[in-house]
Amino acid sequence: MASRLSFVSLSLILAFIGTTAQSQVVPTGAYTPTKGACPADFQLVRMAGSAASNQTLSTGEAAYIQSRKSEVIPGAWQTYLSNVEAAASGTTLPSYVSALLANESGGPTLGIATSGGGYRAAIVGAGFLNALDGRNGTSAAAGTGGLLQGASYLSGLSGGAWFVSSLAQANFPTIQNLIFPPTEYAAPGGASDANAYWGGWHANYSFVTPSDDPLVDAAYVSWCVDEILGKQLAGYPVTFGDVWSRTLARHFANGTTGSNFYDESYPHGAGVLFSEIANTSMFESYQIPFPIVVTDIDVPTTNASAIIPGDVEPITNPIMEFNVYEMGSYDPLLSAFAPTKYLGTTNGSLCVTNYDQSSFVAASSSELFNGLTFELLNDTFGPLLAAASDSLPGLQNELYAYWPNPFYGVAPDTFGASKQSSLHLVDGGEDGENVPLQPLLVKARGVDIIVAIDVSSDENNFADGSALIATQDRVALFPSAYSFPPVPTTAAEFTSQNLTTRPTFFGCTTTPANLSTPLVVYLANGGPPHDGAAPVTNTSTYQLSYEDSEVQAMLDQTFVLATQGYPASAGETMDPEWPACLACAVVDRARERVGTARSGVCESCLERYCWS
Ligand SMILES: *[C@@H]1O[C@H](CO)[C@@H](O)[C@H](O)[C@H]1NC(C)=O
Ligand SMILES: *[C@@H]1O[C@H](CO)[C@@H](O)[C@H](O)[C@H]1NC(C)=O
Ligand SMILES: *[C@@H]1O[C@H](CO)[C@@H](O)[C@H](O)[C@H]1NC(C)=O
Ligand SMILES: *[C@@H]1O[C@H](CO)[C@@H](O)[C@H](O)[C@H]1NC(C)=O
Ligand SMILES: *[C@@H]1O[C@H](CO)[C@@H](O)[C@H](O)[C@H]1NC(C)=O
Ligand SMILES: *[C@@H]1O[C@H](CO)[C@@H](O)[C@H](O)[C@H]1NC(C)=O
Ligand SMILES: *[C@@H]1O[C@H](CO)[C@@H](O)[C@H](O)[C@H]1NC(C)=O
Ligand SMILES: *[C@@H]1O[C@H](CO)[C@@H](O)[C@H](O)[C@H]1NC(C)=O
Ligand SMILES: *[C@@H]1O[C@H](CO)[C@@H](O)[C@H](O)[C@H]1NC(C)=O
Ligand SMILES: *[C@@H]1O[C@H](CO)[C@@H](O)[C@H](O)[C@H]1NC(C)=O
Ligand SMILES: *[C@@H]1O[C@H](CO)[C@@H](O)[C@H](O)[C@H]1NC(C)=O
Ligand SMILES: *[C@@H]1O[C@H](CO)[C@@H](O)[C@H](O)[C@H]1NC(C)=O
Repeated sequence: MASRLSFVSLSLILAFIGTTAQSQVVPTGAYTPTKGACPADFQLVRMAGSAASNQTLSTGEAAYIQSRKSEVIPGAWQTYLSNVEAAASGTTLPSYVSALLANESGGPTLGIATSGGGYRAAIVGAGFLNALDGRNGTSAAAGTGGLLQGASYLSGLSGGAWFVSSLAQANFPTIQNLIFPPTEYAAPGGASDANAYWGGWHANYSFVTPSDDPLVDAAYVSWCVDEILGKQLAGYPVTFGDVWSRTLARHFANGTTGSNFYDESYPHGAGVLFSEIANTSMFESYQIPFPIVVTDIDVPTTNASAIIPGDVEPITNPIMEFNVYEMGSYDPLLSAFAPTKYLGTTNGSLCVTNYDQSSFVAASSSELFNGLTFELLNDTFGPLLAAASDSLPGLQNELYAYWPNPFYGVAPDTFGASKQSSLHLVDGGEDGENVPLQPLLVKARGVDIIVAIDVSSDENNFADGSALIATQDRVALFPSAYSFPPVPTTAAEFTSQNLTTRPTFFGCTTTPANLSTPLVVYLANGGPPHDGAAPVTNTSTYQLSYEDSEVQAMLDQTFVLATQGYPASAGETMDPEWPACLACAVVDRARERVGTARSGVCESCLERYCWS
């Protein structure tokens, strides 16, 4: 996120913000967690191992990755390679590229991370992924399409989490079909099965004031509040994060269309669970990179010296992740996970389900309100906050997303929230690490190439590399757990060397001791395209709605950003070798593992694209 100026508490805001229309009490069961018997073999907490030597993945994730690597990725790499070769006509790749992509056990393990930055980041992140998606014929023809299909992991944070969670729960459609589904659907069973259908992003409806009619808007915000009353009545602490979740659901969870947007007989994604991604057909057939959503956590004792100036949370706090199977952290501070499906549960005698609402996961990852100034909050989110304060007298006096703490008593010396009954989750970018890299640095995941998509808002709402610097700083605090390639230490270095306006590779030189450090392909939304077009991808993080035509223009310009490469001379707008250079980077760690020397176009490419 952009820098934050000060901390404001909800009570202060409520003291200032006026009231809106009274809302009716119509609690929605679909958003309410339910309690039941625990399964026979139930285990609330899995200790994941704090050292590289004993770290383990969940059995679900390990099985998913293994099946994806044996059943899907070999064919995906073949298709990708033929796209690269067709686009790079006249350029011959060294033979090791195809050999390594065909090597099932020794081929590359790829992760893609897509950053925060509100709707801008969701759209531009989706645009970058579209350029890597082999299902889009234009992307395939450009020679970048197909890389997405070869990825093992896909992580998202804040706006990037809206994108990743919506993509996964919608059954991994193409980007164009994700944002603009081809035809308006009508659920055959009407409201009762609306959640089985995906209706698109509806970016032209603002999160807070979707219509031009103040009465409609007042009703809208009161619905978003009413829908969480059932959860509150059932005894769970609810916060503004839940209200936020309900408005996000209408954009990023199944069940909302243009025609039912204001129809409260529809569930609007209430009841669509993050753990249910496991039941989509694309996940069941291992067609989607394993999705991960990143959040930060606020803990009672703040390590002020570890807060990067302008940010909110210290980089020493654990970074939490949600995946389809588990929520927790591989940070050595915690090294523990709880099952996503049973989040809300705090002991083994009574199990809670229906807490892991996909929209609440997305809301937790984008819960940036604790870091905003009062003015920005009131100006941007005022009506939603006012509706919440009117109808939820028991609303927690804090701007965090509350999750009952499954890790109570776990790692008491290092996990700052060990003695709290609820985890206080906040926007994943609040520590400055706006690109969700941490899950991809986990040694047990064996990721050796990371495509890092940075749509942060730094200068002019473009990224300036600060997010990578924050990751570099944090990794230095946990050398036994993570390694990250060297990147510049100041944003000025990034921008003066144009590292944000062209693809840049970090970590091209290795020694046997740091061969397991991933190579990072940095794709930043750092400036206008080289073709001279006026920029459309640097909108404000606080722009809460977009016309369809604006979204399409951003996707199309991002396609140019993703495919233009690093032109060899100032007069050119494209690098015809870029697809080949990207493929060279993809196999580079695998190449080093078998001891083959870089050669041919890969040698000159890496010299040009690598930062040294
Ligand atoms: C993993 O190894 C670390 C360091 O040796 C040790 O402290 C920890 O207890 C081990 N964890 C598990 C789950 O075995
Ligand atoms: C495939 O990868 C494995 C593991 O790195 C390696 O031992 C083997 O030599 C590779 N095979 C080829 C044909 O490159
Ligand atoms: C969302 O809708 C799509 C169809 O558009 C369906 O394939 C998918 O399974 C649904 N997701 C969930 C979590 O129910
Ligand atoms: C959003 O676009 C849809 C389809 O073009 C249209 O029906 C709807 O009225 C628009 N909504 C707003 C708030 O502009
Ligand atoms: C979803 O998939 C899991 C296994 O991944 C299975 O146990 C569960 O019954 C499925 N749920 C539904 C509603 O199909
Ligand atoms: C606080 O942060 C500093 C780095 O700024 C770190 O060295 C120190 O260990 C941290 N202390 C705690 C208690 O996390
Ligand atoms: C277990 O958790 C449930 C629901 O959170 C709670 O009502 C119950 O008192 C707890 N039981 C024990 C033994 O702590
Ligand atoms: C909050 O915003 C509203 C407009 O949405 C404005 O009327 C009001 O004066 C603002 N309150 C403060 C205290 O700035
Ligand atoms: C986008 O960037 C240009 C500079 O390339 C700048 O003039 C413009 O103000 C920026 N737009 C926004 C909304 O920040
Ligand atoms: C950065 O880009 C600008 C504009 O294209 C160019 O004039 C300058 O020489 C570039 N700087 C470096 C270090 O490549
Ligand atoms: C590996 O270590 C060498 C020597 O310290 C260093 O030059 C290189 O940048 C490191 N590579 C990575 C990927 O960290
Ligand atoms: C492929 O991507 C381009 C660029 O955004 C877009 O214009 C086009 O509609 C996409 N094609 C398909 C079939 O999704």
